[in-house]
Amino acid sequence: MLSNLGSYYNISKLLTEISNLSATFDSSLRGHNLRVSLISLLVATKLTFSRNFLLNILVASLLHDIGILFFREREQISLLKEENYGDGAIHLHAFIGYKLLNRYPFFREPARIVRDHHRTYSEFVSSPSRFSFPAQILFLADRVDVWVSNRLANGYSLLESIGLLREKLERGRGTLFSPKLLDILFNFYYDREAFWFNLYTEEEYAKEMVLDWLDRLDFTLSIEELLKTVNLFGFIIDFKSPFTATHSSGVAQTATHLASYFHFSQEELRKMKVAGFLHDIGKILIPTEILEKPGRLTDNEFFIMKSHVYHTYRILSRFIHNEDIVKWASYHHEKLNGKGYPFRLKANQIPLGSRIMAIADMFTALTEERPYKKAMSSSEALGILIQFSKRGELDDQIVSLLAKNLKAIDKSRQIAQERASELYRDLKRIVGKFDSSGSESC
Ligand SMILES: [Fe+2]
Ligand SMILES: [Fe+2]
Ligand SMILES: [Fe+2]
Repeated sequence: MLSNLGSYYNISKLLTEISNLSATFDSSLRGHNLRVSLISLLVATKLTFSRNFLLNILVASLLHDIGILFFREREQISLLKEENYGDGAIHLHAFIGYKLLNRYPFFREPARIVRDHHRTYSEFVSSPSRFSFPAQILFLADRVDVWVSNRLANGYSLLESIGLLREKLERGRGTLFSPKLLDILFNFYYDREAFWFNLYTEEEYAKEMVLDWLDRLDFTLSIEELLKTVNLFGFIIDFKSPFTATHSSGVAQTATHLASYFHFSQEELRKMKVAGFLHDIGKILIPTEILEKPGRLTDNEFFIMKSHVYHTYRILSRFIHNEDIVKWASYHHEKLNGKGYPFRLKANQIPLGSRIMAIADMFTALTEERPYKKAMSSSEALGILIQFSKRGELDDQIVSLLAKNLKAIDKSRQIAQERASELYRDLKRIVGKFDSSGSESC
């Protein structure tokens, strides 16, 4: 039974899709994580063929900028593209990424690599027990891509972009960069035109190679690890805004709780949880100004807002091979009277799981504070849901089950959201305390 859930996902695709989300803030970052992953991996294979070493460096490279999803400030994002070697502020996104990943034993080693990926070679040499060596590989790969991509974005040709790179990297030999790693880059790759053509003239190449390597290295997760990974991505979606910081956790819990009254099997309950964590993944693509607008949205803004469920559908379809999860997650704004969005489905096209999700989503949202409204009590929220069910928009059977078990459902929702908010506050504290020297005094 349990093993089925694992087969629904293409785990490698899940990882690459999620890792690509950092680029949604800034299109010039598109493909950055994939190119960095490939460069890191190629350099690493000249050091060792140890599966664990390669897998850790690959996972770390894919997720190395994941911490940036926590920030909305443009400065943090632009820092990634600067030729900035190891001053304080640059370490913040790396440290947030570390904190997110380090919670999970199976991501612990990649977490350390992510944490140190802007540490220079001198820093590493002065304290080799403190900093991770594989992070030096990631640092070099990251700087190579930032340099070449910046040059390309400024209108230089590929030849011009790589032309000055050698000299530039050589200037950092032994101080910024490990001499051994520079030798590998120059001896095995730098002069080979195909190395650069692969990376910078073919958009899909790095992705194909990364997926191929993940398969070759047999990247797998147990069901429990998979659920935790999905939970982590739920956090990342929510943390984009303080108003929704614990929303997906609340929705996942409420939906699963409601589904248990409908005798969903253990496996279906797990699917419901996954769908709950990911139901708003499409919001990653919606501008924060719209998500957090205090007043009424204009028609145009609302139209854009509506697309979040469309994007949820598209993103999830790419790596989840299970219709239930995709539909339960993506149909949460469809209405039984056909007036929902974005597919305008009719009642007979909306499965029970999606109806439950719609109610769990509304119930959770109503009990949360938003820039345009105050938080409601659970009974006030229920009152609104009853009105909606009377209007033929929500399933009245589910709403009455919610009414009957309101206390228990609301309690479990609160507990789930409190747990998520601890992590959120912890990360906020780190951001607040992070001193400009970049030390981990927090
Ligand atoms: Fe990067
Ligand atoms: Fe939504
Ligand atoms: Fe939602």
